[in-house]
Amino acid sequence: PQTIAIISAMKEELEPLKGLLTLQEEHQLGGMSLAVAESCGQRVILAVSGIGKANAAACIQHIISIYRPDEVINIGAAGALNHRFQVGDVVLVTESIQHDVDCTGVGEAPHTLPRVPRIIPSNESLLQSLEQTALDMELTVHRGRVATGDAFISNNERRKQIQDCTHADLVEMETASFAQIAHLNRVPFVSVRSVSDNADGVAEISFETFLREISERNATLLKGYLTSK
Ligand code: ADE
Repeated sequence: PQTIAIISAMKEELEPLKGLLTLQEEHQLGGMSLAVAESCGQRVILAVSGIGKANAAACIQHIISIYRPDEVINIGAAGALNHRFQVGDVVLVTESIQHDVDCTGVGEAPHTLPRVPRIIPSNESLLQSLEQTALDMELTVHRGRVATGDAFISNNERRKQIQDCTHADLVEMETASFAQIAHLNRVPFVSVRSVSDNADGVAEISFETFLREISERNATLLKGYLTSK
């Protein structure tokens, strides 16, 4: 049987999916919460990593080391940088970049850490499987590039600066870390991010208002994906 790990940064982002699965055990470790479920003969590891890049990296490495998942999927919210995307849109992340990295002082390109790829692409076959699931369920999904950093973006100036320098469609706080660690371990990874806000002056209110709804949307897609496998 396959093992599929599904990680969210916040418990609110994972809860609707958890409600659709039969949990076998649940425990806490460090700042993380972990659960094991079964779905259509597959083992599903559900984890809440905590917010930000360090929590994301620690969580996915722990899961990969302990459970050896065949694939890892991150689900959660994101702020839209590109006006093409609206609150409620479901976006499959094609690639991610860390907007808060700067080693230009030692000759690296902007947003590039020495010896780490600047942009890490998501696993294309996972992306296509999720797109097929969405098609079968008559759900609309988009593709987009994400900028990750340890900051909640809630003003237009910062938003524009990140968009200008990364050309990302969305901003959030974990995907590039998950992707980097998955890449180092050679584990297929994709992130599914639904738009909760526009990373502008009203981002906080929008995020709080739509978090539940977009997490339910992500749960519907992921439940469909697990059922289709
Ligand atoms: N996640 C959801 N909205 C966000 C924002 N505006 N900035 C960073 N992470 C987010």
